[in-house]
Amino acid sequence: MKRFECTNCDIEKSYYASKCPRCSSWNTMREIASESEEDEPTESHEDNEPTALTDVEEEAVELLPSGIDELDRVLSSAGGAALGGLYLVAGPPGIGKSTILMQALIEYAQGGPCLYVSGEESKAQTARSARRLLGRKKAPGDLILFSSTDLDAITRTIERMEPIALVLDSIQTIGDPKLDSEVGGVLQVREVTRKILEITKRLGIASFLIGHVTKEGIAGPKTLEHLVDAVLEFSGERTHVLRSLRAQKNRFGATTPIGIFRMTSSGLEGVPNPSEAFLAERALDVPGSMVAATYESHRAMLVEVQANVADARVATPRRTTHGVDSQRLAMLLAVLGKIEPDLSSRDVFVNVAGGISVRETGIDLPLALALHSSFLGKPIHASVAAFGEIGLAGEIRSVEFPEARLEEIASMGFSTVLVPAKAGKMQVKRASRRKVVQIVPVATLEEALATVQETARRPRLPRASRRLKR
Ligand code: TYD
Ligand code: MG
Repeated sequence: MKRFECTNCDIEKSYYASKCPRCSSWNTMREIASESEEDEPTESHEDNEPTALTDVEEEAVELLPSGIDELDRVLSSAGGAALGGLYLVAGPPGIGKSTILMQALIEYAQGGPCLYVSGEESKAQTARSARRLLGRKKAPGDLILFSSTDLDAITRTIERMEPIALVLDSIQTIGDPKLDSEVGGVLQVREVTRKILEITKRLGIASFLIGHVTKEGIAGPKTLEHLVDAVLEFSGERTHVLRSLRAQKNRFGATTPIGIFRMTSSGLEGVPNPSEAFLAERALDVPGSMVAATYESHRAMLVEVQANVADARVATPRRTTHGVDSQRLAMLLAVLGKIEPDLSSRDVFVNVAGGISVRETGIDLPLALALHSSFLGKPIHASVAAFGEIGLAGEIRSVEFPEARLEEIASMGFSTVLVPAKAGKMQVKRASRRKVVQIVPVATLEEALATVQETARRPRLPRASRRLKR
């Protein structure tokens, strides 16, 4: 069946139209091959007999470790990039995508030929960045740089060179000149991905496509996701040194944990203890600050959530959030407003320190406590942490992996934690049993607000804060 697609807005239709039915652009519809024939990953499934589950052998995946632990863990659950795997590394410009992948290639090149293709920079520019990352280390002879935007020239180079690892920087700048459409547009981006996927599987390469994400997303966003084996998202605030890399999808491990990095003058460095990094600059004894035990992308981490509740200057109060969902904040304010009616009309600013985004609901309770603390102008004791989801009726609901969060709280030396009443009896594991954490179950937000001011009178400060005080 014929399908047509608008090269401008990515809509697909079963008919041709000279004016796109969605974005109204003229002459932008192009015929595309049908989804079912072409969009499936091009692996061969020749052995296509129905087989009992017990008889299907596990696929063996050969791995290429970089030695950069925080990266290897995100790439596959066994640690390292999968040979024959196609990774899409997406993120905003300037976040460090080229940097981390060049660092990885430098390591991979110890084991065989590696190819870094740049469609954005000249060979000399790419070489300069690579040298900066190498520092005093000797450049591996097997790291080959190639500067081109022509897909044909690139595929020919790959075929000739047969690298073990490949980086294409970036998918938006490389295209097939034979295709009558703009480089970076949906058709081109898809064509590049398809060609690279085919070569990746055939030659068993660990391949990385870099994709810049702008406000509108990667060109043809959803169309790439199902073609590649893994989508890794690089995020963080460009103004912060901390960056995170997490898998939105990963065929080589469904639960690969988020990786945290620090941008330094010689590239990205893994941060083995993110909680410590996120709490490092915490101001103590200020209203509106609270430590949240989150479980983000398969890893327990402590972060500082900051709230500022101020008198509104205009009739519609301002709501600004960094690192938490603004819809979630609106809901929490509605729930809090039932307890503190005055709060709803104030300006509210929320920030998660360190530039990380928390997308899970375990941050609800600490966020509500921070908001309330700012509203009252009363600090919460620095040795208290919390986690829990808040329901519309103000009930505190359980969240995933309470024990992993508790472990993190214990290991960071916090003395008290507010947890959902229904979280059940929790045990601090043997490793940190010596560290006493007072667990305070709370059933409602009202109860939590009342309790948090009473708890933690003990002056013991958590590790990160003690360090800061010195
Ligand atoms: P880059 O990897 O080029 O970002 P992306 O490919 O995602 O667009 O690097 C982004 C920024 O990082 C750039 O502004 C320069 C800075 N940087 C460092 O601070 N240290 C370094 O060692 C390198 C290579 C870059
Ligand atoms: Mg770049």
